[in-house]
Amino acid sequence: MATPTEQQQPKPAAAVTEEEETRKLYVTAADAQAFTEAVLRGNGAPADHARTVAECLVAADLRGVDTHGVNRLPSYMARVRAGVLDAAATPTLTQVTPAAAQVDGHNTFGAVAGGVAMQAAVDMARVYGIGMVSVKHSNHFGMSAWLVQKALDEGMMSLVFTNSSPALPAWGARSKLLGVSPIACGAPGGDDESPFILDMAPSVAARGKVYKAKRRGEKIPLDWALDAEGRPTDDPAAALEGVMLPMGGPKGSALSIMMDVFSGVFSGSAFAGHVTNPYDPSRPADVGHFLVAIKPDLFMPLADFRARMRHLYDRVVKESEPAAGVDRVYFPGEIEQRTERERRRAGIPYVEAEVRALNEEAQRVGAEAIRVSADGGGG
Ligand SMILES: NC(=O)c1ccc[n+]([C@@H]2O[C@H](COP(=O)([O-])OP(=O)(O)OC[C@H]3O[C@@H](n4cnc5c(N)ncnc54)[C@H](O)[C@@H]3O)[C@@H](O)[C@H]2O)c1
Repeated sequence: MATPTEQQQPKPAAAVTEEEETRKLYVTAADAQAFTEAVLRGNGAPADHARTVAECLVAADLRGVDTHGVNRLPSYMARVRAGVLDAAATPTLTQVTPAAAQVDGHNTFGAVAGGVAMQAAVDMARVYGIGMVSVKHSNHFGMSAWLVQKALDEGMMSLVFTNSSPALPAWGARSKLLGVSPIACGAPGGDDESPFILDMAPSVAARGKVYKAKRRGEKIPLDWALDAEGRPTDDPAAALEGVMLPMGGPKGSALSIMMDVFSGVFSGSAFAGHVTNPYDPSRPADVGHFLVAIKPDLFMPLADFRARMRHLYDRVVKESEPAAGVDRVYFPGEIEQRTERERRRAGIPYVEAEVRALNEEAQRVGAEAIRVSADGGGG
């Protein structure tokens, strides 16, 4: 049943009950996009930058990657207000060889620098079969799958790497050095409904999930992180004082070093623990990225490639026998696609505290409050 939308007004902290803190409020993708763009423009982002960053954040919320969605806006805006992120800078592209280019983000939003880089990689791949772009002096680009999807929209396979601020120890160490830097890649599927999209942090869980648990007053599983004393903890605040745990022990830590080699060392950006945390507005982040686009029909006709991807999907999803307690086997990216279909129908759920923080951002720049609906029935 459709419910009327309401303008959500910030409330004084004392008036907010625990139930209100966790109650879900639903926002349509279009309203989330319009709201986010307005806040970004209000903070000095040109319209095209605002559209790009908002698309990236809303795409994460639609896919269920709530840790990298519109809730990142306050931390991004704090960086802009502190003068450590240039909301209006235009990335520059230098062609190095016919199939390799470098983007200097000039310290603008990661989504903007990443978007310019992926478009360049795709344009090169269309002519030469492959296009590689290194990005320096960028910022946090949010959910990597947004860039993978941009390549897929152009019919391309891709690799999307980034480095990030220290959160993980090198294997065997106890202090933060390496980033929880996601590794992402994609390929067109047998049809447009079943692409391959892998997008994973090399930790047991992305650090954004700890920030989200802290925001929502929730506990975290004991195998995600250690506290400052090196003990397992279920308290997100204590985990943020300590270290995230790499997935697969030394293998996760090696994958994080791989992200730093390709994104940091190779590009000329910060590396080896020198990228600034996106929640620390004291200095520029200097994030590096590494993007590759590849034509899927380089070695065979596209129809053959797609038929082989269809066969792979069927073998993985339809012919694998589910293990005990598992209802269904999924292809990488498939769960997020299902979430996106559902959220496009019902709206994106946020909790009251998140809506309040977003509306505080809107108030600062005189933008309208975000339009929310009290049930996810049909927004
Ligand atoms: N920009 C940054 O600095 C940064 C840092 C960390 C994380 N991130 C983002 O955080 C997000 C979350 O990362 P994560 O590692 O927590 O992701 P995740 O663990 O939720 O998923 C990782 C991958 O596994 C697949 N998957 C998950 N469950 C599955 C199942 N049951 N069957 C088949 N496949 C399944 C997903 O489709 C995905 O490709 C990513 O989008 C990443 O880009 C960004």
